Amino acid sequence: MKITWFGHAAFLLEGSKRILIDPFLTGNPNASIRPEEIETDVIIVTHGHGDHLGDAVEIAKKNDVPVVCIHELSRYLSKKGVEAVGVNIGGTAKFRGVSVTLVHALHSADVEEDDQLISTGQAAGVIVELDGVRVYHTGDTDVFLDMQLIGELHKPDVMLVPIGDWYTMGIKGAVKALELVKPKYAIPMHYNTFPVIEQDPEDFKKAVEEAGLDTKVVVLNPGESFEV
Ligand code: NI
Ligand code: MN
Repeated sequence: MKITWFGHAAFLLEGSKRILIDPFLTGNPNASIRPEEIETDVIIVTHGHGDHLGDAVEIAKKNDVPVVCIHELSRYLSKKGVEAVGVNIGGTAKFRGVSVTLVHALHSADVEEDDQLISTGQAAGVIVELDGVRVYHTGDTDVFLDMQLIGELHKPDVMLVPIGDWYTMGIKGAVKALELVKPKYAIPMHYNTFPVIEQDPEDFKKAVEEAGLDTKVVVLNPGESFEV
């Protein structure tokens, strides 16, 4: 599987299928691709915040592909004319050769539209299984002890983990999260997009090494890929 980071929390997983997660491209100063250039088979959105929902509606319509997300957000997206597949925490949806499981995240999740907040259910993380490789995109979250359960149940090969602080856990929490989940690889995300989430990913890498964890940290620049 090829994992490409587009900046912030946006990733494309490519194997026998293409899976796009949290496509915040328009308005993302680090975005390495334009929404109209994206080709995907499935889109997953972890929660309704603008820096995750991003260009999902436009990309879903252009590619004629479904958006998988939590039930309430799927209702919102359906009203936008998108084919939305609503699942919920703990549930696995298998379709089009992809397995998607939503898992808990410790975060808020409303959509902001015309200066109004619309409730779109809980924030989630997601486990994606494709071609025998399991990827855990945590969504926006703090560390929580139940990550240990997520690790035991899903045994992710790769964990996409926020380190930016302010809106999510910072480096200290992210190191603890790796200790609980025990993935083989971790790719830091959700940092350096805005001034308040400035972070040096090399500090994260060093902290993981100093903690003596077996997880290998892979630092990507926006637009770069990692093959697993
Ligand atoms: Ni958020
Ligand atoms: Mn966010």
